[in-house]
Amino acid sequence: MALFDKSHSIFMVMISFYSLYTIFSSVLDVSNAVQETSTSGSAGVDGFWPLAPKHVIINNTVQSKQTLNVHCKSSEDDLGLIHIPWNQTWGFKFHVNVFKTTKFRCHFTWGIGESHEFNIFTVARDDDNFGDYEVCKVCIWEVGRDNKGKAMCRVNRDELNHPVCFPWDDKAIL
Ligand SMILES: *[C@@H]1O[C@H](CO)[C@@H](O)[C@H](O)[C@H]1NC(C)=O
Ligand SMILES: *[C@@H]1O[C@H](CO)[C@@H](O)[C@H](O)[C@H]1NC(C)=O
Repeated sequence: MALFDKSHSIFMVMISFYSLYTIFSSVLDVSNAVQETSTSGSAGVDGFWPLAPKHVIINNTVQSKQTLNVHCKSSEDDLGLIHIPWNQTWGFKFHVNVFKTTKFRCHFTWGIGESHEFNIFTVARDDDNFGDYEVCKVCIWEVGRDNKGKAMCRVNRDELNHPVCFPWDDKAIL
């Protein structure tokens, strides 16, 4: 009997931990929350060593001022559908993998019928010291601010006036 009671209370403890976890995860699941994904191993050096820690921030700057719906995925992580109010941000953190093949691709929708895809993080563009663009540790993206064909602008926190802008890559595949 005593044995039964003991295992029963252990079971209860597990249940309450589980419900705490569930509550906590659902509280975290809001826009503006920073999502932590596959944090593996020690920190590396950006642009050179693998495992560099990265923080991607998405800023809703669509011209129609509507809510931006974002769904980002890598081959390992699905960050779910997030709704970002206009002029607000949402972000996620991860480490570049050992093979430096980490890629996050996002699907953006807003308004009636706006639907676009973009590789929000690639090693070649965002974490290569010998690449065409500066390496970013905090990679801030303004979405939809420019309407002249280059809707995705990566801004530098220190130099907000010097964005590098790219068109959607709707046709590329992950
Ligand atoms: C989002 O972008 C707008 C336009 O550049 C800027 O005014 C605003 O401060 C940005 N928001 C954040 C949180 O960086
Ligand atoms: C956008 O957000 C920034 C803070 O991130 C704020 O300073 C700015 O006034 C906002 N712009 C508008 C038009 O609300």
